[in-house]
Amino acid sequence: SGPQVAQLVASRVLDVPDFPKPGVVFKDLMPLFADGDVFREVIDGIIAYHGRDSFDAVAGIEARGFVLAAAIAYATGVGVVPVRKAGKLPRATHSASYALEYGEATLEVHQDAFTAGHRVLVVDDVLATGGTAEATLDLVERAGGTVAGFTVLLELGFLKGRERLAPRPVHALLTV
Ligand code: PRP
Repeated sequence: SGPQVAQLVASRVLDVPDFPKPGVVFKDLMPLFADGDVFREVIDGIIAYHGRDSFDAVAGIEARGFVLAAAIAYATGVGVVPVRKAGKLPRATHSASYALEYGEATLEVHQDAFTAGHRVLVVDDVLATGGTAEATLDLVERAGGTVAGFTVLLELGFLKGRERLAPRPVHALLTV
């Protein structure tokens, strides 16, 4: 159930102070990925929440979203599409830039990544400010997909990513 999965996430996240820079507390979900039983519960929980027939493809956001997307895709028999940091994809891409505290970040997806009209489930490990997710959802649509849903393992509520993405729905297994 939802509360049980939330507890699992809470039990497998480590707070790492001052990473990647001073003042930031990094939410490390590697313990969750590393625990086979918990990983499976989490993947199954995401699929059950959306419904296994509600999407035709899964998009994973670099880097930890790749792991989640691949597992969901394998379990449901759909394909997986990576949304990558700039300069990593070899062919023609759509790209979306967004502001960081200092500077800018860019994400890319192959222009032919999605079959037109395919319903795409987007996944990542953490929702913080929502800049990454906003750019990704934009890219999915520009590449011809329809966003079927967006799920993260962990939402940092105080950073208001959900508000940034509104009115698009955000599904978080755990919000802190
Ligand atoms: C983290 C996380 C999300 C993003 C969320 O990725 O995995 O993708 O930040 O932040 P936002 O909501 O403020 O945009 P990170 O920058 O650590 O990149 P990585 O996964 O490639 O290590």
